[in-house]
Amino acid sequence: MARLNVNIDHVATLRQARRTIEPSVAAAALECEKAGASGITIHLRQDRRHIQDSDAFALKQVVSTYLNIEMAATSEMLEIAEKIVPDAVTLVPESPGEITTEGGLDIVSNFAQVSDAVKVLQKAGIFVSIFIDPVKEQILAAKECSASQIEISTARYAELTLGSRAFHPEGKQLAQEEISRINQAAQDARALGLLVAAGHGLTTRNIKPIAQIREIEEFNIGHHIISRSVFIGLESAVREMLLAINSEI
Ligand code: PXP
Repeated sequence: MARLNVNIDHVATLRQARRTIEPSVAAAALECEKAGASGITIHLRQDRRHIQDSDAFALKQVVSTYLNIEMAATSEMLEIAEKIVPDAVTLVPESPGEITTEGGLDIVSNFAQVSDAVKVLQKAGIFVSIFIDPVKEQILAAKECSASQIEISTARYAELTLGSRAFHPEGKQLAQEEISRINQAAQDARALGLLVAAGHGLTTRNIKPIAQIREIEEFNIGHHIISRSVFIGLESAVREMLLAINSEI
């Protein structure tokens, strides 16, 4: 049974829209845990557009399951991680002005920076995962820099299955090819002894074929769950996703 970490960035997005005190990110984390989430994920962005440093410190105090902080491999972020000591850090790429993380981290082209970051985090006792595209060279590089886990980006698959594209024959074929790529990446990573997570753009509608890849042991899912929570409440939205991940049908 794969674990679900709920990414609660967009609870902070709503609060930051008014720079006020609600909705509470800490309360959201507790609600997700109550619904059965295995962990909480946040992305502390360099532009601080949603999650603030104070949220990360507060979550370290209240989260009793597993706290995963996504961050860029910069010295500013590493210093914060060393202070908070979350259970895990996921290294992600970040470019100014992007709407969301655009694809995986290019470890191959940034090897020294990424492997130094992995060392700093591991020295602080933090589990390190790296968000990458399902590409063999990147998996080998993740192994070479001693990361414990890779998180496979499902962004392209999500794009191909968005709305009516899921039913278009050409889209279906491309989505199938992307599932094969993700599957192969998961097998390659496990064969190297890396743990495997996946995430980005996953919904209750498109997760099934990805959830069937047994090597994927963890999902990090945010936008869809928080969007659904507007209509059915956060606890129900988390339960709905857990059902989608774990039902065999
Ligand atoms: N994993 C990583 C590395 C991400 O950057 C994000 C988005 O912050 C997610 C998972 C979750 O993606 P989504 O919000 O589309 O579910």
